[in-house]
Amino acid sequence: MGDDVTPERFRALAGRFATGVAVVTTAVDGTVHGITVNAFASLSLDPLLILVCIDREATTHALLPRAGAFAVTVLAAQQEELSVHFASSDRAEGHAQFEGISWRPAAVSGAPVLEGGMAWMDCRLSGVHDGGDHSIFVGEVVALGELQGTEPLVFYEGGYRRLAEAGR
Ligand SMILES: Cc1cc2nc3c(=O)[nH]c(=O)nc-3n(C[C@H](O)[C@H](O)[C@H](O)COP(=O)(O)O)c2cc1C
Repeated sequence: MGDDVTPERFRALAGRFATGVAVVTTAVDGTVHGITVNAFASLSLDPLLILVCIDREATTHALLPRAGAFAVTVLAAQQEELSVHFASSDRAEGHAQFEGISWRPAAVSGAPVLEGGMAWMDCRLSGVHDGGDHSIFVGEVVALGELQGTEPLVFYEGGYRRLAEAGR
């Protein structure tokens, strides 16, 4: 019983776990950077911890330990374009990466919080753990707040989705 355990089957079946989409941002050495993630989860209530999993090959992987802090913006349904942008390999570097995007610096990290999202959290990096070809970055939440979004962006089976309110 069961399918062959291959990366392709793993990717397809893991993709049946519906997630939200977030942008993790850093501010380091006077510049800023963002990356689209769906490997984001709340981890602990006491202390308040979240985790994000970042590919070892990603630029962000080296930036997070240097910054020692980061912000997370949970994207709203209308922000699919931002998700695509912060995942694209040919986006600009530094402040130019945020041109035309409305943001403000988070209080502690100074990292961009994207206006129009669902919620933001500002985190101090509290640990980095091995996760195969990714690393698990644990952040202690030091500030947080709501944003203007009312419906979350959903990622499911490799595509962007909207929440359907079945039965209403
Ligand atoms: C919906 C979506 C979710 C993603 N989730 C992650 C993730 O959780 N972790 C990760 O390392 N990359 C993730 N990626 C890929 C990165 O966004 C992409 O590789 C990005 O260009 C890396 O940026 P960087 O190299 O500038 O840090 C995701 C991409 C998309 C479109």
